[in-house]
Amino acid sequence: AAPGTTVPFVPSSPLVGATPNSTGRVEFPPGFLWGAATAAFQIEGAATEDGRQDSVWDVFCRVPGAVVNGDDGSVACDHYHRYPQDVALMTSLNLDAYRFSTSWARVVPDGRTVNRAGLDFYSRLVDELLAADVLPWLTLYHWDLPQALEERGGWPRRDTAHRFADYAVTMHEALGDRVKVWTTLNEPWCSAFLGYTAGVHAPGRTSPADGLAAAHHLLLGHGLAVNALRERDPEATLGLTLNFTVSDPVDPTDPADVDAARRDDGMFNRIFLDPVFRGAYPPDVLDDTAHLGFAEVVQDGDLEIISTPLDVLGVNYYNGGAVSATPPAQAPQGTAGPDGERAVPADGPVRETRSPNPVPDGIHPHGRGLPTTDMGWEVQPEGLTRLLLRLQEDYTGPRGTALYVTENGAAYPDVVQDDGGVDDADRLAFVDAHLRALKDAIDGGADVRGYFAWSLLDNFEWALGYSKRFGITRVDYATQQRTVKASGRWYAQVARDNAVPA
Ligand code: NOJ
Repeated sequence: AAPGTTVPFVPSSPLVGATPNSTGRVEFPPGFLWGAATAAFQIEGAATEDGRQDSVWDVFCRVPGAVVNGDDGSVACDHYHRYPQDVALMTSLNLDAYRFSTSWARVVPDGRTVNRAGLDFYSRLVDELLAADVLPWLTLYHWDLPQALEERGGWPRRDTAHRFADYAVTMHEALGDRVKVWTTLNEPWCSAFLGYTAGVHAPGRTSPADGLAAAHHLLLGHGLAVNALRERDPEATLGLTLNFTVSDPVDPTDPADVDAARRDDGMFNRIFLDPVFRGAYPPDVLDDTAHLGFAEVVQDGDLEIISTPLDVLGVNYYNGGAVSATPPAQAPQGTAGPDGERAVPADGPVRETRSPNPVPDGIHPHGRGLPTTDMGWEVQPEGLTRLLLRLQEDYTGPRGTALYVTENGAAYPDVVQDDGGVDDADRLAFVDAHLRALKDAIDGGADVRGYFAWSLLDNFEWALGYSKRFGITRVDYATQQRTVKASGRWYAQVARDNAVPA
């Protein structure tokens, strides 16, 4: 890919409802990395211990109605105190790698001053992982901006990008001798558009222009951090994790529906992919957002920084969606959108929700009659195959960047048996189907080198609090008891055998 060129949106042939090709045993390539993922705010708790101060999520949780049941992250899975037990759990699951995030508000609580005690927690965690022979896969930012930096303007302010690069260096100074894989951001789409445009995530602002400025400064922070880390540590594996949708026009012969899918894809996928892998924002996205002053936020030289080569693109995939220029006769049940994060279940936050898309006009999600998870998200494994093949061909392949699925999984209403176990056949089937779809992509030429289940543990599901459970391990929040679910036992076999059983 020549820098400064973008890829036009071409709707790929929808295989909606199609299942992965394989049914029998599926072997993965030697060395394929098996992991599970979590994020700091969702599991750590210990919100006021050892000098940690508020992140935007601590503050957001105090807003009445912002989070289901008024849940917050003050205790969560108490991982801050129980990490040795959680690392032992990883060993019992045969995991090669553990994807976790570090809390900026623990490490640099006021946005300026390094808190040694906060750093020490991650140092202990990394030592525990290495002693257990589990690869630490560290993410620097999983949505929990120090509140002190939000008060100085947050992500819509350019300075935050520089503060992020400083924090990246601080983390590397402390852990760079032991941590070899670094991810800058997790799902900047959510930080920018759910946080600053839709207001359904922290910090709860509702400004389309702020969302766009935040998106650019998140990318700038990513690029600055990658440059700083690369300079300090040329051998490190550096990456970025994005969340994706697969936008299908409801009627592929209707130009208005195709255009809705183009805009959906633009504001979701290409607004991040093109600057990172091609050094330019997509012209159609710039056109669509011209009235919001997006182009003015972008300064000379920014795109060069943002498009610094990466070793890894992390792919978070939950579902795709069909969109139309026309609203459905009946709103799709239990969901406000097709793309995972934007979907707000019927029993979701009572706060008024707005579209996260800064240019939402005429993008209407339609249900397709596919099975859905407890989030109201369609189960669409073949979307993962299409997504990975597209990424390989249009973005990562030409740059030699490896693909890893850094999140995939499902919330289901688990039923706890008398012995505390959970026979989650639905979650197991979800992961099975997506692993087969992933293998189809490898067979089609995608350089996918690993898979992380979301999540190691049931945890704090953001605005939905503890009401949604994604874990392959059950957490009883009253006792903090962990119990591996049937899906977790099955996944442990997959990791051990490097194969999905028939
Ligand atoms: C993606 C996010 O990175 C993670 O924090 C969240 O819990 C899962 N999706 C499920 O919604």
